[in-house]
Amino acid sequence: MKLDPIYLLVTHPTGQYDVLVGAGLLPNLADLAQIRGPIALITDSNVGPLHADRLGGVACTVTIPAGEQHKTLATVQTVYDQLLVAGIDRQATIVALGGGVVGDVAGFVAATYMRGVAFVQCPTSLLAMVDASVGGKTGVDMPQGKNLVGAFKQPTAVLADVSTLQTLPPEEFAAGMAEVVKHGLISNPELFGRLETGDWRLTHQSPISSLQSLVATAIKVKRDVVQEDPFEQGRRATLNLGHTFGHAIEQVSGYRVRHGEGVAMGLVAAANLSARLEHCDPAMQGRIENALQAQGLPTRIPAEFEANAIYQAMFSDKKKAAGKLRFILLRDVGDVFVTAAATENEVLASVTAVQFT
Ligand SMILES: NC(=O)c1ccc[n+]([C@@H]2O[C@H](COP(=O)([O-])OP(=O)(O)OC[C@H]3O[C@@H](n4cnc5c(N)ncnc54)[C@H](O)[C@@H]3O)[C@@H](O)[C@H]2O)c1
Ligand SMILES: [Zn+2]
Repeated sequence: MKLDPIYLLVTHPTGQYDVLVGAGLLPNLADLAQIRGPIALITDSNVGPLHADRLGGVACTVTIPAGEQHKTLATVQTVYDQLLVAGIDRQATIVALGGGVVGDVAGFVAATYMRGVAFVQCPTSLLAMVDASVGGKTGVDMPQGKNLVGAFKQPTAVLADVSTLQTLPPEEFAAGMAEVVKHGLISNPELFGRLETGDWRLTHQSPISSLQSLVATAIKVKRDVVQEDPFEQGRRATLNLGHTFGHAIEQVSGYRVRHGEGVAMGLVAAANLSARLEHCDPAMQGRIENALQAQGLPTRIPAEFEANAIYQAMFSDKKKAAGKLRFILLRDVGDVFVTAAATENEVLASVTAVQFT
């Protein structure tokens, strides 16, 4: 199935690139992404068997095991080894085909292999399309916490082929919708409205034209934010709405809670904290819960995760300024801000308030 791409131009400090959102893009990868030299494809053990054969002209394919637990330096090392064995040099372009884990690992490899080679993202999960593949952040997890080692590496093109979403497990699609809800909350009230009213209740089996429209709308939010603040010195931090809670929940669960699910619970907790600190209407929490539930997402933190453990885990998140936790809070849909002014008791109260009893 083919669908003409929507082109979204992203500018960054050292250049610009296009994000193409369409269907049937992968067979024309080299042309569409204007790749000249050899292609070194990096994919994972789920996505490779499903989609790698759609890409033409690949010089070497490296398959990493699927899953967040493999977003490590050890995986990066095995990728370097395989690229070296295959004789991949600086003329090559590294292409990431997969979810956010593949994108983050492949991007880090592209930033460092031979001091840096060209990089193209072909995201295949909803989360990777609307969030991870745009903005140039790459990296790996450490035992001490997520994304603690990494680099900024801008792609030369991003091909979001929404037809790949048809093989995405429904719970992974839902996890991506958590970031779409987040994007609506950050700066697109119309997008949030469509999710809240159920007008945009999509699944991985929805018509590809609807998926294209959803993905392009959500990417625009991320694009506009990262363009304004490429190195995360200010506004970009707002993309972490729900993430201070979410990352901590993921970590306490031993990463059994998916990133998107942690974000969903985190958005509810962030709304609770915003209302607690009198920044927003208490009804905001219920509105966000409705939008998330409509996508089949969890809105309560499992009772087995101790509020104190979640609070402690927040301190291993690198997004804290001078030892203080930073939260992104809401005033309204489309109006969010960063603050370090929340006490331990207030944070614990919000975690407990959104926990199953
Ligand atoms: N760099 C960034 O700016 C950024 C932003 C957000 C998230 N992330 C990172 O992204 C990761 C989460 O991304 P994710 O949710 O895509 O996780 P993921 O890469 O683990 O993918 C989720 C699962 O779906 C499978 N999959 C992906 N596409 C598929 C398809 N089309 N068909 C069948 N299966 C498919 C994967 O193999 C995996 O099992 C986290 O590590 C997070 O830190 C990075
Ligand atoms: Zn996220």
